[in-house]
Amino acid sequence: MLSREDNALLTRVDRGTPMGDTLRRYWVPALLARELPEPDGPPVRVRLLGEDLVAFRDTQGRIGLLDEYCPHRRASLYFGRNEECGLRCVYHGWKYDVDGRCVDMMNEPDAASFKEKIFTTSYPTVELGGIVWAYMGPAERRPPVPAFNWLRIPATHIQVSKVIQETSWVQGLEGGIDTSHAPIMHRLLTTETKRPGFRPDNPFVKGGAPTLALDLTDYGYQYAGIRPLDAQRFHVRTYHLILPFHQIRPSRSESGVPLVAGHSWVPIDDENTMVYNWEYSTTAAPLTDEDRLERRLGNGPADVDQTTFRSKRHRGNNYLLDRQVQKTETFTGIDGINTQDRGIQESMGPVVDRSQEHLGPADKAIIQARRLLLGAIKTVQAGGTPRGIGPSYYTLRASEGVLPRDADWREALTPEMAAAEIFQTV
Ligand code: FES
Ligand SMILES: [Fe+2]
Repeated sequence: MLSREDNALLTRVDRGTPMGDTLRRYWVPALLARELPEPDGPPVRVRLLGEDLVAFRDTQGRIGLLDEYCPHRRASLYFGRNEECGLRCVYHGWKYDVDGRCVDMMNEPDAASFKEKIFTTSYPTVELGGIVWAYMGPAERRPPVPAFNWLRIPATHIQVSKVIQETSWVQGLEGGIDTSHAPIMHRLLTTETKRPGFRPDNPFVKGGAPTLALDLTDYGYQYAGIRPLDAQRFHVRTYHLILPFHQIRPSRSESGVPLVAGHSWVPIDDENTMVYNWEYSTTAAPLTDEDRLERRLGNGPADVDQTTFRSKRHRGNNYLLDRQVQKTETFTGIDGINTQDRGIQESMGPVVDRSQEHLGPADKAIIQARRLLLGAIKTVQAGGTPRGIGPSYYTLRASEGVLPRDADWREALTPEMAAAEIFQTV
């Protein structure tokens, strides 16, 4: 459990809040690059860390991320004209470039001198791995641009998607680093069903309740769920948490292609999160449609509106829960592994009251993540650099395997967990 004060500390993301200022020390995903497919195309609304912004790609292909509201009289620039290297407010024709400079005014006779004094908030951006990342913190503390391996994988080998979750980002993150729920909530009841989930003959499901081992690192932690299979063997599944909100986990396509996968839980505001999902193949062959996890996870175009990024299975329709399916085929009766996650995490309310919880040893990774996040706030307040900014996360992957009981899982799996990707120079 957590005190009400610490819960508020963790979950409030506005500028000027302790966590809001901590999150603003990192590059954060702002939108998918494909939302701005062409120069001078339509601008896109972006709500990020409680701020209303508008993104546009200018004539030269550069991306601007500006305060949504025009500094003149606060009209929304979403309705603006994206033309000749700037976004022009349609109310009185003030125009801003990607750096937030006012470069023209149509309603002022003396625009030449007046416009020099006008700036709007603009954030630096970088386009990496199909995502536009933004930095919203103090200029003098700007860290190096993100360098996850998954940002260097060619488009043929990686799938990236996003979906809105109607909860605090911490709730999403805590689900993603919670190995103990995964083989329970996401299990299938039979080997015959074609629905997405973990089959009952998967060692992840067959193993007993997990013991958690957790190693703190300078990026966050790596941890393993260790499940006894029988007298000779155990199943180990490892994860990484990279502060502030990135998870890396092992995965596999339906046809058995080994994948590295992960999520980033990016706060839209205190009560809403944009979940970014990615997976890539570690083999030389490109990712086929069948290899992609979208259908299995419930994150693709069939399940998520690609304009609003809202899930078609949502709280209002109980995520299309089918009680007959729940009786005979899947543990939840809801289709899509991440749809199940979203559904249950949203069922806790937008910001769960953590003072009411009863945590056990299986929640170790969650307890530790909270400590690290509260610790990151303290580090930032003391003028330091929080975990997750240094280069040690660059080559991380995660892994799983069935090992003999006397094996050292760190020794057996760590080389795989930190493997350099063969595509990283592409
Ligand atoms: S409100 Fe934008 S130009 Fe007047
Ligand atoms: Fe889950």
